[in-house]
Amino acid sequence: MKRDFLTLSDLSSDEHLLLFRRAHELKANRRQRTLEGRSLLLLFEKASTRTRISFEASIGQLGGHAITLPMQESQIARGETLEDTARVASRYVDAIMFRTHGDERLKAFAAAATVPVINGLSDGGHPVQVLADLFTVEEKLGEVAGKTIVFVGDCGSNMARSFCEAAPIFGFSLRLAAPEGYRPPAAELRGARVTANPAEAMQGADVVVTDVWTSMGQEAETKARLQALSAYTVDEAMVAKARPQAIVLHCLPAHRGEEISAGVIDGPHSAVFEEAENRLHVQKALLEHLILRR
Ligand code: CP
Repeated sequence: MKRDFLTLSDLSSDEHLLLFRRAHELKANRRQRTLEGRSLLLLFEKASTRTRISFEASIGQLGGHAITLPMQESQIARGETLEDTARVASRYVDAIMFRTHGDERLKAFAAAATVPVINGLSDGGHPVQVLADLFTVEEKLGEVAGKTIVFVGDCGSNMARSFCEAAPIFGFSLRLAAPEGYRPPAAELRGARVTANPAEAMQGADVVVTDVWTSMGQEAETKARLQALSAYTVDEAMVAKARPQAIVLHCLPAHRGEEISAGVIDGPHSAVFEEAENRLHVQKALLEHLILRR
């Protein structure tokens, strides 16, 4: 039976720990060709820099190769069904990463595919990014369990929603600092504490996370979002309220002066570029896990 990675809950806590252990090994020794001759399809309905480059590099460094297909260049753009595309692609490649708008599209595609499907970002979550984020926390601060992570800004975003899902799996405390209307559905909170006061949320924080205020597909709301979230910029004064050794994460791309100040993203608390690099190592471990069923 194939395994998909559509949400963080698709792997157990033990599997996540094994994945991190393997990602540390792969980071220490980048020349391991465990996926020689394997192929990975990268299917994009939205723009990407990191996801495209890091997945292409991941499979390439492991000895396999990537086929990148922007949706508008495929027959899907001319009406071929997702399901037929998934069935056909499964006969060519060993795994598929899909970046799409709707979670229903992701699920329908995965149900029709006969090889593992990885969520490369959907409206409901960005699980490969949050894996890289938590791997970065472990690398910088030690065990993730017991840490206090604060997500500031647009907490209705796919990133915040994946952090909510991750908290009980990895055993960290999650606080969300966001105004009304920019929070996850209550059913997805899974114990996360919500406040409109970022200064209060920051007390004792080990990790501060933020993301863009206007995600892909929300461009028409940009003005309203800038206004609603203007008190939630992660700046030097806000980070000073966290623990002295706290790290700051942002999945990128960033808008300096909006959700994060230049002084923070380019400053001593920032682990943003290690976080971006760690997409590579964690995804290599994930591809091995799904394709070789390690
Ligand atoms: N963080 C992230 O997924 O980046 P891209 O949108 O550039 O892939």
